Amino acid sequence: MKKLTVLALLAVLVSLGLSACGTSATTPSTSGTTTVVTTTEAATIISNATDGESILKSSCTKCHDLDKIKDAKKTRDEWQTTIKDMIEAGAKVSDEQKPILLDYLAKNYKP
Ligand code: HEC
Repeated sequence: MKKLTVLALLAVLVSLGLSACGTSATTPSTSGTTTVVTTTEAATIISNATDGESILKSSCTKCHDLDKIKDAKKTRDEWQTTIKDMIEAGAKVSDEQKPILLDYLAKNYKP
């Protein structure tokens, strides 16, 4: 029973992701190459999260844990710079997710 719920959730997430990809991934990328992750390829494996907390959890916890973020008290401008820096470092956040994440961080982790 529990397993079914999880599967159903996954199915929903996958279908959401597919439709999101249809609009954002315009540049054709070579499928099958997984060695080098360019920004274009990264865009295709971005999480489907659409709320700040989920984006944060899925995109910002690969290299360090959330404490690094929770301990950082930043203004909106500073968060904007941090998000940009982290994306340059390899964080996967789509153009649609960026403002949502910024909002979330600016509201919850302010000075
Ligand atoms: C590709 C790996 C990677 C990902 C993904 C990543 N970070 Fe980082 N992050 C780092 C590294 C490396 C440092 C330490 C270097 C530094 O302090 O500038 C760091 C440091 C930080 C810091 C503390 C330094 C500062 O600038 O205040 C914050 C806050 C932070 N990351 C937020 C985020 C957020 C928000 C995300 C998601 C958008 C994210 N990180 C995703 C690699 C990553």
